[in-house]
Amino acid sequence: MPFLPWSEQMVIDGDCIDGQHQQLVATINQLYDLVHGQGPGDLGSIIEFLVVYVDVHFADEERLMRLAGYPDLDDHRHQHSRFTIQLEALREAFLAGDDQVDEDLLKFLKSWLFNHIMGTDRDFGPILMAWRKTTQISEFDILEVGP
Ligand SMILES: [Fe+2]
Repeated sequence: MPFLPWSEQMVIDGDCIDGQHQQLVATINQLYDLVHGQGPGDLGSIIEFLVVYVDVHFADEERLMRLAGYPDLDDHRHQHSRFTIQLEALREAFLAGDDQVDEDLLKFLKSWLFNHIMGTDRDFGPILMAWRKTTQISEFDILEVGP
């Protein structure tokens, strides 16, 4: 069983945002497996990928929220920055020579992502889908990373 299993309940738009969320879930699982000696990979590369991918994903999501007129964008951005701060700290520590990733941080990444997707991201789902239907704009055309 993966550290953070993907479930259909986590689907919010049936499109690009779900694809990005799945990639984030897969990367956190990869990080967990590597730290626990259960999977391949290079810690520096996984951290680097996660930092960059999260940045792009949050920017994409916030762009869609702006376009679709999501009313709680400011609060949502604050939630995103909480996650980014933890990831940046992990990257800084790694670059300073600390190659330990503690369990509390792994648990934070897992629970933050799960609760965030199941909470505020899911609130945005219907707004995003309604906007997509009205405008006929494809998410794929305006996002930086596709599914
Ligand atoms: Fe979000």
